[in-house]
Amino acid sequence: MDSEIFRESLAQYATGVAVVISGAPGCYRGMTVNSFTSVSLAPPLVLFCADNQAETFQSIKQSQRFTLSILSVYQEELSQQFSLLGPQEKLFAGITTGLGINDIPYVADGLAFLDCTVHNMIRAGDHHIIVGHVDQLGRLQDHPPLIYFQSQYRHL
Ligand SMILES: Cc1cc2nc3c(=O)[nH]c(=O)nc-3n(C[C@H](O)[C@H](O)[C@H](O)COP(=O)(O)O)c2cc1C
Repeated sequence: MDSEIFRESLAQYATGVAVVISGAPGCYRGMTVNSFTSVSLAPPLVLFCADNQAETFQSIKQSQRFTLSILSVYQEELSQQFSLLGPQEKLFAGITTGLGINDIPYVADGLAFLDCTVHNMIRAGDHHIIVGHVDQLGRLQDHPPLIYFQSQYRHL
């Protein structure tokens, strides 16, 4: 399998963009994801895929909880900020957060947030599929979504 063709073909699938945050007070980690999808209504389950090497994945393994914030068209810069490797202080610089019921921050001015505990994690090659049970969720801003298509940010 040619990895370039694999990437290019899958980049034809347009997605939204979200930020996953996990950890504990004083050492939160966050990462941009576009592999998010809903799974089940009863019980309420969602999933996303995390690179086995991602710092945020290590935090989720430890704390077994995370928030997921769905980004708006105005949060392209924030998405870039959370897709870079960097110290935690820089990651959260200039970002307004709320605190979910599991004590993990979420992006306060996104479109919606979900507060999750890990339901199960499935190893899948160089990633893990993380299935989260939604403990709380809420709609936030009423803006258009941020879209990711052909490896670029797009607007509806
Ligand atoms: C639009 C976009 C979507 C991404 N989606 C994912 C994803 O679904 N899963 C993943 O593991 N990494 C994804 N990444 C890459 C991570 O955001 C990036 O590797 C990040 O640096 C990981 O941070 P960490 O190691 O501090 O947790 C995405 C990046 C971008 C820009």
